[in-house]
Amino acid sequence: MKKIVFATGNAGKMREIREILADMDVEVLSMKEAGVRIEICEDGATFEENALIKARAVASCVDAIVLADDSGLEVDYLDRAPGVYSARYLGEDTSYEVKNQAILDKLFGVRKEQRSARFVCAIAAVLPDGEELLAQAAIEGYIGEKPAGSGGFGYDPIFYVDAYGCSTAELSPEQKNEISHRGKALRAMKEQLLLHGV
Ligand code: IMP
Repeated sequence: MKKIVFATGNAGKMREIREILADMDVEVLSMKEAGVRIEICEDGATFEENALIKARAVASCVDAIVLADDSGLEVDYLDRAPGVYSARYLGEDTSYEVKNQAILDKLFGVRKEQRSARFVCAIAAVLPDGEELLAQAAIEGYIGEKPAGSGGFGYDPIFYVDAYGCSTAELSPEQKNEISHRGKALRAMKEQLLLHGV
């Protein structure tokens, strides 16, 4: 059976990718399960660049198909910040309660039409023959006026979607996977992998 190594240490992302690739004839391993322990410097200027940096770094350590993702929040009113700096915004160790409140403060008094935002996810794959594939997807929404919900992670409590009229922290994992940037990008990558005979 072919092996896919997903370049993440995040258990939630592993669960999601296993669910989405469940009907493919592949074994999906985390970096740790594949025995890869490397520090990767994500210094790309775009989500796609960062996903490729991670996938290439792990691909140099294993003989398998390697997938990596990079994601973040773009707030239009803040010139698309925090963008590729989403995890490092206001410092890597700063809580999301603080990060989220800082964004709400910056948008205080701003009308809903100007509060548009999106989560973006890029997925890169490096195949054993060196071929590289890319997929990117987004979920459009807006920054609410206050945090809501206890599901999800990161910026979910302040990111609202019109389809449900609530924050993505108020959705069930199934509801979120169906519409999320990561779910969409993973499904697009799966199509490409299938076209490449994986
Ligand atoms: P990375 O792709 O693991 O580097 O994550 C980037 C950062 O983007 C995360 O730490 C979160 O702050 C944010 N982010 C990405 N996807 C989501 C999401 O679905 N909900 C909330 N925050 C997210």
